Amino acid sequence: MSWVVGGAKNVKKIVDHQMSSILLFIFVGTVLTIFQISSAIETSNGAPPPIFIFGDSTADVGTNSFLPMTKIHADFPHNGIDFLNSRPTGRFSNGFNTADFLCKLMGRQRSPQPYLFLLKAGLTKRMFSGVNFASGASGLLDVTGKDLNILSMSDQIKQFETVCSNLTLVKGPEAAKDILAKSLIAISIGSNDIFGYFETQSTMEPLVFIDSLMTAYEYHINAIYELGARKFGIISVPPIGCCPSQRIHNTTGGCLEIENTFARAFYTSLDALLKKLASKLPGMKYALGNSYEMTINVIDHPQLFNFKSVDTACCGEGFLNAEKICTPQAKLCSDRDSYLFWDLYHPTQYASELAAMTLYNGGPQFVTPINFSQLAAY
Ligand SMILES: *[C@@H]1O[C@H](CO)[C@@H](O)[C@H](O)[C@H]1NC(C)=O
Ligand SMILES: *[C@@H]1O[C@H](CO)[C@@H](O)[C@H](O)[C@H]1NC(C)=O
Ligand SMILES: *[C@@H]1O[C@H](CO)[C@@H](O)[C@H](O)[C@H]1NC(C)=O
Repeated sequence: MSWVVGGAKNVKKIVDHQMSSILLFIFVGTVLTIFQISSAIETSNGAPPPIFIFGDSTADVGTNSFLPMTKIHADFPHNGIDFLNSRPTGRFSNGFNTADFLCKLMGRQRSPQPYLFLLKAGLTKRMFSGVNFASGASGLLDVTGKDLNILSMSDQIKQFETVCSNLTLVKGPEAAKDILAKSLIAISIGSNDIFGYFETQSTMEPLVFIDSLMTAYEYHINAIYELGARKFGIISVPPIGCCPSQRIHNTTGGCLEIENTFARAFYTSLDALLKKLASKLPGMKYALGNSYEMTINVIDHPQLFNFKSVDTACCGEGFLNAEKICTPQAKLCSDRDSYLFWDLYHPTQYASELAAMTLYNGGPQFVTPINFSQLAAY
């Protein structure tokens, strides 16, 4: 999970700014194509840096569609209903997700393709400009989602390792080092580990459990750093107790407070961990997005963001439309941009866009110590 948002004024400013950019773009479009023909020959400097995306269903752009053994996928309607040609793409969304919008803000059309897609299509060189490894239902811990046959964070890093060694073979060690150092790593993970804690009715002390997640996160970041990456955009855990899937276990339809407590503790510990890592690992830069604050801000002030519903899933069945996943037979809302939640767990395309804009341009209340645009500019 990782939906969410920032200050309403900010968003409006951003949207206004984007509108004028779009108009400007249309106007200069014709002029540009003429220049592009000549400039494309001389330089590739304008190309955005590579981006490598890790995480769970909040960032998955179709990985799980290539995993025949898992039941956790979204490559059927009504998923993708607002995508081009209403095509289900494997995204757990009515359209794009937060990973896509972050990539758009960084000058791309959408997220890079899933690793398994590029591998199957034999597009090894395409991997050098970016790959999405994220797999729905995955977590920081190898046990999270293990019986669901998805790709854990460790599995995703093994795939990244293959890309890195390929890059080194093709470009040579020096060039590969440069490319990796300027690449952006985006990671959105942790919610499924906390869900797992509650589902298995773990008796582990909460703080001991959060510590075990931090140990895993430290191990993963170290591994990615050792492969040569330096720039980390990290997206924390949203108030998962407020997902429609969790609200239905509260008779009032309110959030499950205990799960939100875990989400807050996760953020606090992750903030401390990243500070420690950045002081220890030379050249490491990071931006940490506080999905908890972003999302609670929306849930507490829905009207500021034009949301009509922040507790009910747009696509589903039953109480809060959250007793079943989104399928072709599910009940579907018509005004999707006025819902925070697409299905019982995931944000709508619109909420994902707000989240990405906040991560990219937001202030220290939502993303620290720098925002994603500053991270990308390094
Ligand atoms: C590149 O990666 C592919 C899989 O991604 C692998 O099959 C191939 O052997 C690698 N090639 C090189 C040169 O390492
Ligand atoms: C259920 O929601 C209410 C708000 O509607 C909240 O006060 C209460 O603490 C919630 N219950 C649990 C078990 O989290
Ligand atoms: C975040 O990003 C923008 C650039 O998009 C920058 O101008 C701004 O200073 C940053 N905001 C904060 C509060 O750090």
